[in-house]
Amino acid sequence: MAYNIADEDKRRNSRRTKWLIGGGVLFLVILIAVGVSVGVVLSNRNKKNNSSSGSSSSNGDNSNGGNGGSGSNGTDSSGSSDASNFTKDPNLHKAFYGMAYTPEGALTEFGCTNTLETTIKDIQLMSQLTTRVRLYAADCNQTEQVLEAIVQTNVDMKVYIGNYILDDNHEAYNRQKEFIKQAIQKYGTKHIAGVTVGNEFMLNYVGSTGDPNGATGDLGAAILIQDIEDTRAMLKEIGVDSEIPVGNSDAGSYFSTKVLSAVDYGLSNVHAWFAQTSAADSAAWVFQFFDEQNVVPAAALPNKPDMYIAESGWPTKSSDAEHATNGGPGVASEAGLQDFLDTFVCQANTQGVKYFFFEMFDEDWKDKKFGGVEGWWGLFNKDRTLKNVKIPTCTAP
Ligand SMILES: *[C@@H]1O[C@H](CO)[C@@H](O)[C@H](O)[C@H]1NC(C)=O
Ligand SMILES: *[C@@H]1O[C@H](CO)[C@@H](O)[C@H](O)[C@H]1NC(C)=O
Ligand SMILES: *[C@@H]1O[C@H](CO)[C@@H](O)[C@H](O)[C@H]1NC(C)=O
Repeated sequence: MAYNIADEDKRRNSRRTKWLIGGGVLFLVILIAVGVSVGVVLSNRNKKNNSSSGSSSSNGDNSNGGNGGSGSNGTDSSGSSDASNFTKDPNLHKAFYGMAYTPEGALTEFGCTNTLETTIKDIQLMSQLTTRVRLYAADCNQTEQVLEAIVQTNVDMKVYIGNYILDDNHEAYNRQKEFIKQAIQKYGTKHIAGVTVGNEFMLNYVGSTGDPNGATGDLGAAILIQDIEDTRAMLKEIGVDSEIPVGNSDAGSYFSTKVLSAVDYGLSNVHAWFAQTSAADSAAWVFQFFDEQNVVPAAALPNKPDMYIAESGWPTKSSDAEHATNGGPGVASEAGLQDFLDTFVCQANTQGVKYFFFEMFDEDWKDKKFGGVEGWWGLFNKDRTLKNVKIPTCTAP
C-alpha cells in the first residue's frame, strides 16, 4: 500500500476529532489515577516525517550530491572550506540532552531538497546546544549527510538514526534500511548512538482510541518487531550489532508491551500541550506522565528498555486562531516556550531524565500541510534565527 497524503490528512483530522470528543473518556481513568488535569498525550507531528510513496531509494537523491563540485563559496563536500571553523553564538549553551531534528526538505514526497551544505549549517548550530541529535527517517540520504556534517564540523555529536515505518508491506522500511546500512558502512559507529525503528507506528496503526496491546495492536506490533529484528540482523551482518542499540519511538500512551520487550530503548513522545496544561504546569505534567506511563512499566519488563522522552516542547504560534490555545490555559507563544524551557530543561538534566527537545527548527512543510501549531515548535525560526527566548545556562549530562 502506497503512502497517501490525503489518507494521512484524513486520519490525522479524524484522530484529532476523536480526541476532542472521545479521548477524554478513554483516559479519564488514567488521569484520575495520576491526578493530572484533563487531557492525553498525543503527538501528531512526526508521523508525517515519513517517506511517502513508492519512490525507490535512488530516485529522490539527485539533489544531494550536486554541491560537491559546484563552486567553493560554502561548506560543500569538496572540502574547499573548513566547516569546523564557525562562529559560536554566545546566546547558545549545551543545555539540552538531545534535540529532535529533520533536515529541511528531507522527504521523498517533497523531492528530497535537503543538502549537505544546509545540514552542515544546522549541525554547526545544534552542536552549540547539545551532543545528541535524533532523526526520524533515513530517506533522501539524510543519515549520511548528517554524519558527513558531523565529520566536517568536527563537533561532539552522536546521532540516533531513524527508520520511519509505514504499514506498506515493509517497503519504506527496506528502502531506509539500505540507506542506514550504507551510512554505517561508510562512517562507522563512532557518531551513532542508536537506530530507532518506527515512529508513532502503533498510534497510527490502532488509531487514537485503539489499544496498542489489543488484538489489532498485536498485528501492528508484529510488523514492527519484524523490522526491529531485521535491523538487528543487518547490524550483525556488518559486524556492529554489539555497538549500536535498536529502539522504537511512539506516542507516550501507545507503546505495545511486545514491541518494548523487543528493543534496547524506547523513545516516548510526551506533550503537555495536548494534555491542555498551562505552559507553567507543562514540565511537571511531562515528568509525571513519562515516569508513570513509560519509565515504570519499562523497568518491569525483562529486557528493561532504556526510556527517553522522544519529543517534548511548546509551540510558539498557530497559523489559525482555532489552535492558538490548547483548549485549556495553554497559549502558543514564545513566552510559553520560555516557561517550558525554564521549568523543564535544567530539571530534566538534574533528575537524569533523558530527552530530545522538540524541536530544533520550525518546519515550514508541516505548517503548509497541517496548519495550526504543527509548524511552529522550533527553538529557531525557519530561517535559522533564534526565537525570542533565552536558552537555559545549565549544562546537560
Ligand atoms: C554560494 O553563493 C550562492 C550565490 O550567492 C548562494 O546562493 C549560496 O547559498 C552560497 N553558498 C554558501 C554555502 O554560502
Ligand atoms: C576561521 O575563519 C575565520 C573567518 O573566516 C578566519 O579569519 C580564520 O583564519 C579561520 N581560522 C582557521 C584556523 O582557519
Ligand atoms: C549521500 O551523502 C553523502 C554525504 O554528503 C555523499 O557523500 C553521498 O554521495 C550521498 N549519496 C547520494 C546517493 O547522494
